[in-house]
Formats: sequence, structure tokens, C-alpha cells
Amino acid sequence: MIKDKINSKTKAIIYISPNCPTGSVFPEEDLKSLAEIALENEIFIITDEIYENLVYDGEKHISIGSLSELKDQTISMFGFSKAYAMTGWRIGYLTASGNLVKNFVEIHAQIAICANSVAQKAALAALTGPQECVEKMRKEYEERRNLFARGLNDLNIRCQNPKGSFYVYANISELGISGLEFAKKLAEEAKIISYPGTAFTTDESGPSYIRFAYTKTQDRLKTAIERIETVVNKI
Ligand SMILES: Cc1ncc(COP(=O)(O)O)c(C=O)c1O
Repeated sequence: MIKDKINSKTKAIIYISPNCPTGSVFPEEDLKSLAEIALENEIFIITDEIYENLVYDGEKHISIGSLSELKDQTISMFGFSKAYAMTGWRIGYLTASGNLVKNFVEIHAQIAICANSVAQKAALAALTGPQECVEKMRKEYEERRNLFARGLNDLNIRCQNPKGSFYVYANISELGISGLEFAKKLAEEAKIISYPGTAFTTDESGPSYIRFAYTKTQDRLKTAIERIETVVNKI
């Protein structure tokens, strides 16, 4: 499909892995195929790898830029929001070839001058400090995922056990209402915030899906499932 979409105007392929909203993680063979397409057509690959530390079931995150033949054609973006719970600190970083970075720095300096120094210090502490907390939270998220995905499937809200990030992207077509209608009911009747699939895609699958983040404690997630059940039973 991707090959068919490429034409003379194509400059880059952008992807997110581990993915928001689906939680999918691109396997190595897909990355190799993407790399081949990029090399063949001389286009860039731009990645958002902000969930790189949150992968489950023994999966491994692979950064496409580490496939050495593609190094100069890859712009890879990372951040601190997820692995270090630093949402709102407004700091991240990218890796790219030196020539590209020179241009990025020129533009960045005019727009933002620099990331704020408090966030820079915090990011440095995150990178250079002990890393056990990252693995501890990764394991905790894996348990939360198992608990929450099982709870949803028991309510006929169909989802897989996604391999990464901290989202489940669930199919609600068995409920007979759209994702937007369901999201509104959940907000109003159960005080649960979710995102309808139409927030992420304009294709025909959008209304059948809803995204949940399982970032709360296991106890809160159990309460959430009970509240979702109450809403589902009233539909
Ligand atoms: C794929 C993806 N990239 C980036 C971000 C935002 O990161 P930051 O908090 O560093 O702006 C999010 C946040 O939800 C995300 O899902």
C-alpha cells in the first residue's frame, strides 16, 4: 500500500512506533521493508518513538535509524513525557544527519531559541539518573494493560493486547453506537475520558473505535471497568 502511494512529490514517510492510538509496534521485517522503500525512492523516514521504552510481551523496539544504510535519511524523534512521566515539561530531542540538524537548529533558534533550562536540567537528570524506575513502570503498565484489555473484552468491547505504548484502541461496533456517542456517554455518565476513533482517522473505521489510556492505577482501572459496564448495560 505504501509503495503505491509514493509519487514524484513524496518527500518522506512519517510513522509512530510504538503507536498512538493503536499500541502496535512495528516488527523488524516491516521496518526493513520501509527502509528499502525509502532508499529506493530517496525519501526521508520521520519517526516518532516517544513510547520506545514501553513495549511488552518480550517485544523489542527497533529504531529504523539504526539500520545503518538508512542513517542519513532518517529523522527520529524522542521525548521524556512517557518513560519519565514528564508530560507538560515540553522537552524532547531528535537524531538526524549533521547537515539536517544544522538547518533544524537555525529554524529552532528563531522559533523557540531553546528548550527552557529547567526542563533541560530535568531531562538531563532523567537520562543520567538511575533507570530502574523505567523498567518498574514498564512492568506495571504491562499488568495494567492485561487487566484493562481483559475487562473491556469481557464487555464485548473488542481489543487486542497491544504490544506497546499505554493505549488500547478498541472496537465498539458490537455496542451499536458510534465511538463519539460512546465517548460522550462515558464522560457524562461515568466520568471517564476517552477518545473516539474519529479523532485519529477520517477513514470509515473511525466511528467503530475508541481509545483508552490505561495510565491510572490498577484499582482505578478496575473501577473504570465497572463504570464502563454500567454505561454499556444502559445502551
Ligand atoms: C505519539 C506521540 N508523540 C508525542 C506526544 C507528545 O509528547 P510531548 O509531551 O513531549 O509533547 C504524544 C503524547 O501523547 C504522543 O502520543
